[in-house]
Amino acid sequence: MLAGKKILLAVCGSIAAYKTAFFVRLLKKEGAEVKVIMTNSAKDFITPLTLATLSKNPVYSEYFDKKSGEWHNHVELGIWADLMMVAPLSANTLGKMANGICDNLLLATYLSAKCPIIVAPAMDLDMYQHPSTQENLRKLQSYGNEVIEARDGELASGLSGQGRMAEPEELLDIIKKKFAKSLKLKGKKVLITSGPTFEAIDPVRFIGNHSTGKMGTAIADAFKNAGAEVTMISGPATYTPNHGKVIRVNTAVEMLEQADTAYSNADIVVFSAAVSDYRPESPAKEKIKKSEDTFQINLVKNPDIAAELGKKKKKQFHIGFALETHNEEVNAKEKLKKKNFDLIVLNSLNDKGAGFQQDTNKVTFYDANNNKQDFELKSKTDVAEDIVDYVIKNLK
Ligand code: C5P
Repeated sequence: MLAGKKILLAVCGSIAAYKTAFFVRLLKKEGAEVKVIMTNSAKDFITPLTLATLSKNPVYSEYFDKKSGEWHNHVELGIWADLMMVAPLSANTLGKMANGICDNLLLATYLSAKCPIIVAPAMDLDMYQHPSTQENLRKLQSYGNEVIEARDGELASGLSGQGRMAEPEELLDIIKKKFAKSLKLKGKKVLITSGPTFEAIDPVRFIGNHSTGKMGTAIADAFKNAGAEVTMISGPATYTPNHGKVIRVNTAVEMLEQADTAYSNADIVVFSAAVSDYRPESPAKEKIKKSEDTFQINLVKNPDIAAELGKKKKKQFHIGFALETHNEEVNAKEKLKKKNFDLIVLNSLNDKGAGFQQDTNKVTFYDANNNKQDFELKSKTDVAEDIVDYVIKNLK
């Protein structure tokens, strides 16, 4: 199953490091090529000799060999790998990865790696629950890294709770599934609109909304992981993917223009942008001074990007979003039809944890064949995976 796949295993200082011996054996049995990087503190838990013997490759932890002077090229290691897995990931290395700190070979390799990266944290339960740890894990996810959450159970401290690294068999399973999925949408081109649009009132003010681009970025990552080529047209969002082509725009008119240009090449189009429905008719050239007690701005309708491209649809598979506060199902189904979507993803602002600026979302799928699918509250990363799974199943 993993024959010829190149796996770079990065091991940090945590008691779970002892499990990497079993993990390397499992990977080798599946036919993978394995190279191991260790932090210096990982060596307190398992010896480089063990992992070198099992992986049949030298273990790297320094930038160069102190005796021979041979340089261990972190860029080459990152390029060599089809997949980098950091397991166990300690709180210390997590904090550094989340903040661009680069004081050892593992971190330099992480920063230069071009391949998908999966991390499997392991630490004591209170460390795991600390807001900084949780924030750092979210940051890694926002960089497109996959996080395998720590599992519940007995911990080395004698306490019991969430903090155990996922078992080697489970890690292997995740890697196998990832490689299987990575071929499913190979050669397919995906166009995604994402983020808010800002419509100028004057040179300093605008009409906008709270969209951060988190959902669109998670969708881009999930499509990339399925082997697709992604182009994103993003409004002024906080989050954009760190791969593929990202075209930045400000307004709905600019977003339509760019989406229209990229459209004919696309196989799948995801309209996840929160486009401003209206824009000021004539933005002031200079900053508007306050004078009167009331102030009026004349607004004109923006183009509906999804509806416009819906009219042109040929081979493309269109996915839209509906963010509703009431009468959700009726509104979503109406949009599905009106905008010629193949699938609409409904999220209701009435559901706790759904909508703008959240890391989670609770969605329902309605498709053009009258199918409905309800999902639990999940991370936006998992919602994105569900969308990609739907496309894999339904794309002709
Ligand atoms: O009509 P409503 O804004 O609720 O529709 C939401 C869907 O339509 C989303 O997929 C959104 O990205 C898309 N849309 C668009 N252009 C607009 C308004 C919405 O592409 N001007």
